[in-house]
Amino acid sequence: MEILSASDRDIEKAAAALAAGGLVAFPTETVYGLGADAFNLSALARIFEAKNRPRFDPLIIHIAELDSLSRIVDISSLDKTAEERLSLLSARLWPGPLTLILPKRAEVPELATAGLATAAVRFPSHPAALKLIRLSTGAVAAPSANPFGYLSPTRAEHVKAQLGEKVDFIIDGGKTSVGVESTVLDLSGSTPRILRPGGTSREAIESLIGPVEISAGAEDLNNPLADINETQASPAIPLSLRLSPGQLKSHYAPRTPLILHRRGELAVLPDALDSVRGESQSKDHGKNEGQSEGRGKNEGRLYFSLPAKGNSHPAERTRVLSETGDLREAAANLFDMLHELDGLGLSLIRAEEAPAGGLGEAINDRLRKAAAQ
Ligand code: TXA
Ligand code: MG
Repeated sequence: MEILSASDRDIEKAAAALAAGGLVAFPTETVYGLGADAFNLSALARIFEAKNRPRFDPLIIHIAELDSLSRIVDISSLDKTAEERLSLLSARLWPGPLTLILPKRAEVPELATAGLATAAVRFPSHPAALKLIRLSTGAVAAPSANPFGYLSPTRAEHVKAQLGEKVDFIIDGGKTSVGVESTVLDLSGSTPRILRPGGTSREAIESLIGPVEISAGAEDLNNPLADINETQASPAIPLSLRLSPGQLKSHYAPRTPLILHRRGELAVLPDALDSVRGESQSKDHGKNEGQSEGRGKNEGRLYFSLPAKGNSHPAERTRVLSETGDLREAAANLFDMLHELDGLGLSLIRAEEAPAGGLGEAINDRLRKAAAQ
């Protein structure tokens, strides 16, 4: 594995490797992706191996110009309404953090779409991503560049630490700007449906195409995996019951257990509750460790905004997504700060919800999934 810069020369080198069947991790405006030629079966298989990703979880195909859409999507099968929605959304919100689910062309490998009749397409806005896609094959399948179920990477270092030698090149474009993944919008049914809230707000989508449904997700299902398999085996199941694996109850999770608190709860959490015995259980620490010093020693906190009365929790184990409570800034910091807290060897992270609406939906979706066991 070699880390490359985002210079033209380095991207050319990575593009050549990608076109030849290699795996290249690259920055997008949302999170880092793990890219392979969308039409190369063995390269696609390497993505699943590197991520330890189940084969039933379909990939997003990234394009760098609108003309490439027709290589992936069967546009002739869209009715007039769907075609109108597609042209409005692609004209106004692409390039950007929006993934569209549309009927696929037969030529698109089943491995990329996990056997579904639809494909996920995204036109990212990050210049390094666009250059890499254009110079390689024009259609790059790329999931987030993390092991399945783990936090998504917002820096090249995260990819290196998590996937390392499993990839050929990592293009280092610094910290990503949006910080949460793209919004996944299913346009293949009669009513558009958000399968995963993300970097494009529901409000932005609805202002263009009118009301969209929000998928209830898999939260209520005891065994979402079983349901996905069943769904694929039976094409007769209505669209409304279809699941996107991004809807799995537990996903985007740090290795440290995480508890999600309602807004404001963290700031008033009594110190006495701020405790997990963790270190004080160890015999070495003796008796006097107990009451005060040992409490909360092993616990991290992730605030949405700066608590009004200030933070009394030790600074090195505290992160604030946005001091001023700005949703964009908070989303950009979410995975980054979770990565930091996860690297401290804590026994618990307490996080607080973001306010609802806009990017708050994506932040809260990721936090809920990080908290689910
Ligand atoms: O921002 C992003 O979308 C990032 C960057 C790298 O572009 N990519 C990303 O990919 O998050 P991934 O694989 O981690 O998540 C893709 C999501 C999954 O939840 C997958 O199940 C869903 O999109 N998906 C893909 N194809 C689908 C399809 N045909 N129908 C329904 N859901 C689909
Ligand atoms: Mg992912």
